[in-house]
Amino acid sequence: MKISDLLPYWFHIAEGVVCNDVDMQSLFLLTGPNGGGKSSLLRSICAAALLGICGLMVPAESALIPYFDSITLHMKSYDSPVDKKSSFQVCYWLMLFSYVHL
Ligand SMILES: Nc1ncnc2c1ncn2[C@@H]1O[C@H](COP(=O)(O)OP(=O)(O)OP(=O)(O)O)[C@@H](O)[C@H]1O
Ligand SMILES: [Mg+2]
Repeated sequence: MKISDLLPYWFHIAEGVVCNDVDMQSLFLLTGPNGGGKSSLLRSICAAALLGICGLMVPAESALIPYFDSITLHMKSYDSPVDKKSSFQVCYWLMLFSYVHL
């Protein structure tokens, strides 16, 4: 996957958004400071992959999107005292739900 100037889809270009270049050949590790934009970039990459494999326009200058069998994005989960579930239980349930519905 190779994308130039990927725009997080929920931003408007006039909002002073930072566009990112992505060159993803295989497994990669994304690091950065808190609030540095890691989660936003992951959301943007997944959205771009989904749009791309659907044959739709990607919010980027250019995008080379290979075909993916599945796209999974797991973000941090919180505990749910109302449901009597710890953060691990919520996380486990969400992952199980995601994989069962692939
Ligand atoms: N590409 C971007 N351009 C402009 N602002 C951005 C961009 N990406 C993220 N931001 C702003 O920075 C904020 C923090 O981004 P994000 O939550 O993605 O950071 P993070 O690295 O995942 O933080 P944490 O380490 O705390 O999880 C966002 O809410 C958004 O307002
Ligand atoms: Mg984050």
